[in-house]
Amino acid sequence: MDRRTFIKKSTVAAVGGLLLSTPFSRLLARENGEEPDSSLPLDKHPMKVLLINGSARRKGNTFTALSEAAKQLEKNGIEAEIVQIGAKPVRGCVACGQCHARGLGRCAFDDDICNTVVEKMGSADALIVGSPVYYGQPNGSVLSLIQRLFYAAGDKVRNKPAAAVCVCRRGGATTAFQTLNMPFQMMNMPVISSQYWNIVYGMSEGQAALDKEGMQTMRTMADNMAWMLKKIHADGSPAYPEREPGQMTNFIR
Ligand SMILES: Cc1cc2nc3c(=O)[nH]c(=O)nc-3n(C[C@H](O)[C@H](O)[C@H](O)COP(=O)(O)O)c2cc1C
Repeated sequence: MDRRTFIKKSTVAAVGGLLLSTPFSRLLARENGEEPDSSLPLDKHPMKVLLINGSARRKGNTFTALSEAAKQLEKNGIEAEIVQIGAKPVRGCVACGQCHARGLGRCAFDDDICNTVVEKMGSADALIVGSPVYYGQPNGSVLSLIQRLFYAAGDKVRNKPAAAVCVCRRGGATTAFQTLNMPFQMMNMPVISSQYWNIVYGMSEGQAALDKEGMQTMRTMADNMAWMLKKIHADGSPAYPEREPGQMTNFIR
């Protein structure tokens, strides 16, 4: 099936409220001890969104918020995969420049999750980054990961739609949200909005599901992302704009 046919079919599926079987729904089914529905092969879902859960809590509130967005993407016929940063250390960028000097297209350090995410991003059409709020900021691991991903593998993120999601107990989510949005806007990534900032409230694991407005904001953001992806890919290929050679002016005088 070509992309144009897929887009038409997936729109029909969305209207019918059909929940397609994709990695995310398969993952959930597995975790719930259910048999995943394998009737729809993955090659019927050529458009994919990668969702990064920046929290060490695999089933915490950031996961709850991202899951709501992932389910909504799947309702729109878009594949969704949540990647968990987990609790292992994620090193920060040390500005060694080896990724560029050696043309690696990935981080020179291969001892944590970064290059796994780099590879996954290569086959994704859009990105959603979710983070818990720590002291009014995104948590440290997610910032380390994003800075290395964007610096080492800019070609894999450039031009692709992106959204940030922040989850907090009480405050600081807007500043964290702004921080997460900063790199998107340096990489020509269309930033996907929603009916409100992508902020969800919750403290103990899963409490975010009680934030009805937050959950709705996630679904609206996912609908907007699916809409944007279908528009961008309507002709079968993204046809991103041609760019001028980069002009760098460093403020040295
Ligand atoms: C180190 C640390 C700092 C935190 N700082 C804030 C904060 O500034 N504002 C806030 O509302 N919640 C704060 N929280 C609470 C978390 O943001 C909240 O529990 C969130 O739901 C965690 O998401 P998770 O379940 O995905 O890990 C903090 C939690 C930790 C562990």
